[in-house]
Amino acid sequence: MSGIAIIGLQWGDEGKGKISYLLSRDADYVVRFQGGANAGHTVVVGNKELKFNMIPAGAAAGAKPCIAAGTVVDLPEVVEEIEILKNIGVFKGLLISRNANVVLSIHKELDGIIEELRGSKAIGTTKRGIGPTYADKMLRIGIRMEDLLDKNQLISKIKLLEDYHKLKLDNIDEYIRIANSLKDYICDLDIIINEELDKGKKIIFEGAQGSLLDIDHGTYPYVTSSNTTIGAIFTSCGIGPKKISEVVGVTKSYTTRVGAGVFPTELKNEKGEIIREKGKEYGTTTGRPRRVGWLDIPLLRYASKINDIDWIAMTKLDILSAFEKVNICVEYEIDEKRFKMVSPSVKTMERAKPIYIELDGWPDLEREEWKKIANKGFDGLPENAKTYIETVEKLVGKPIKIVSFGAESGMEVIK
Ligand code: IMP
Repeated sequence: MSGIAIIGLQWGDEGKGKISYLLSRDADYVVRFQGGANAGHTVVVGNKELKFNMIPAGAAAGAKPCIAAGTVVDLPEVVEEIEILKNIGVFKGLLISRNANVVLSIHKELDGIIEELRGSKAIGTTKRGIGPTYADKMLRIGIRMEDLLDKNQLISKIKLLEDYHKLKLDNIDEYIRIANSLKDYICDLDIIINEELDKGKKIIFEGAQGSLLDIDHGTYPYVTSSNTTIGAIFTSCGIGPKKISEVVGVTKSYTTRVGAGVFPTELKNEKGEIIREKGKEYGTTTGRPRRVGWLDIPLLRYASKINDIDWIAMTKLDILSAFEKVNICVEYEIDEKRFKMVSPSVKTMERAKPIYIELDGWPDLEREEWKKIANKGFDGLPENAKTYIETVEKLVGKPIKIVSFGAESGMEVIK
């Protein structure tokens, strides 16, 4: 039995797609277990950049993709991403839980309406209908994958949905058509995953968004509408906690956030601009500029703790080489008291003043030089970069086993 979880430790966009790709190379399956097409996972293989919103990015490495019950499925995205996998010759079929809820046009419309109503307190959602689809699921008026295969039952379900929201769904035939084209993939995923794990198959569970966007543990209400932390795997896939043998937490070497909400280490200055441009910090799904800031250890400690991670994968180390000196936030000062870790309630975080240590930066190397480092391994990293990594390891109390310095596979060292 070997289930490996990949969890984002920040506000998403940590580079989970690349890490999933690396870990999925010898995996049998890779599973998306929460969220929907709000996620944007990028994998760069050779000179091809592949973007996934619904299908787990690890599928590009050849593992069979699965979409579990706790996700909200954007059907046209699934169809498009199957084509991506077919084009690179790795499509091995797909497994979609019959219980997964489907994102409908009504949900996208509602996402826009609610954001307007929030006015100056808008969350800055991706407008992919995520919140409203999860809300309907909890109200037990949502449409599941299997419902789309049964037109008679579907009609009464749709009527209830339309009556409740006082909105019309006009393209239902298109959803039915797509669901029928995917019919062979719709299955009892919970049973299959359990059986495959019992057979000793390697399964990667690819998280989307990040721990600080978790509906219960994140910076509520500036969060997404699903649990993004470890427990979501068990509820979404219907497996027990002992089935996960390793939990990998992914962080960038700095911090980013898209949308509104607290961000204590945010750099609203030229340094922030430099990181944004050098790191191409623009949303994969929406193209929005990401807010950027220094690495935040109190939040990393929190995310590592609540997910009980075993080790860390750190991405985008090359981006920080833009600076002679780099900062790490090691503690917060809140009401004149120091905190090494905080639970990220907005009320607390709004008063948090980051306390930094300053480290020496490392040379701004060309891509070819980073490539050579990738061949040499961890010891080949610039000395100050090694010090940065070791400092983070000590501060968080977890080893960093993968250090990545480029989007494409091969631009990393693995300890
Ligand atoms: P929603 O998930 O579209 O409802 O958006 C809620 C919040 O989560 C917004 O601040 C989004 O910017 C953020 N968010 C959702 N998905 C992602 C992601 O994949 N990466 C980064 N932020 C995300």
